[in-house]
Amino acid sequence: MNIVPFSPGVGAVVNDLQLATMTESELTELRAAFTEYGLLFFRDQDLPPEEHLRFANRFGSIVVNKFFKTTQESPQIAEVRKEKTQQTNIGGGWHTDHSYDDIPALGSILVARTLPETGGDTQFANLAAAYDALPDNLKKKLEGLRAVHSNTHLYGENGLYRLTDLNDQLGGMDRVGDATHPVVIRHPESDRKVLYVNPGHTIQFEGWDFTESRTLLDELYAHVMQPQFTCSFNWLPGSVTFWDNRCTWHQANNDYQGQARLMHRITIAGSPLAAA
Ligand code: SIN
Repeated sequence: MNIVPFSPGVGAVVNDLQLATMTESELTELRAAFTEYGLLFFRDQDLPPEEHLRFANRFGSIVVNKFFKTTQESPQIAEVRKEKTQQTNIGGGWHTDHSYDDIPALGSILVARTLPETGGDTQFANLAAAYDALPDNLKKKLEGLRAVHSNTHLYGENGLYRLTDLNDQLGGMDRVGDATHPVVIRHPESDRKVLYVNPGHTIQFEGWDFTESRTLLDELYAHVMQPQFTCSFNWLPGSVTFWDNRCTWHQANNDYQGQARLMHRITIAGSPLAAA
């Protein structure tokens, strides 16, 4: 196995490894790379749904998304689908999967199934590097803060997604809910401090009013979105990505109108998040 950084400071490409036939010692090496980079890219994989599931199960236990449709092959594989005729895509804004859960997901494994001829990249951000680079006065301000994460504004009645042509693909309107988490977490494996707020799901700081929260959240988001903390991955047939939801954000570019895109996603269960 050969692991090379993808872009300065964000992600790594894992070469010379087939996920479907990985040995136990390769899995151990892969776990270490996942902890170090928090975002791994793989090319030329032969990973049909049953192997996608097997890889996920070797890494941890699977948690099923409350809102997405699942595949014919398995109720544990979520479909991230955009039809030719659809305008809105799933995950088109920066977010972290499942941060609205009390115990957010560890990570997600996304496999390309149908790709547009052009466009449809996924962008990623490194929230450990972004935290490290915050000015000391801002780090001090964030100490001890907690934030509310929600999905109601997206998936609830009249939520943003419900008002789009994505609505037919979504279920679970009654499963909406909130959770609170520390704003700076200690990553359970890498031990790094990580900024744990995201534009998709973080509503406000606990005990702060909405406007006051918005000002600081927008400042933090502008910081994370700088080029040195972000990268863009172009999908090819056989591409797979595996990201750590505790220390990354992602968003799917919606720049391929008139073309279809289908990805299969499996999400791995995490553990409660602790303040740094
Ligand atoms: C997601 O938000 O999980 C989807 C990412 C993608 O489709 O590229």
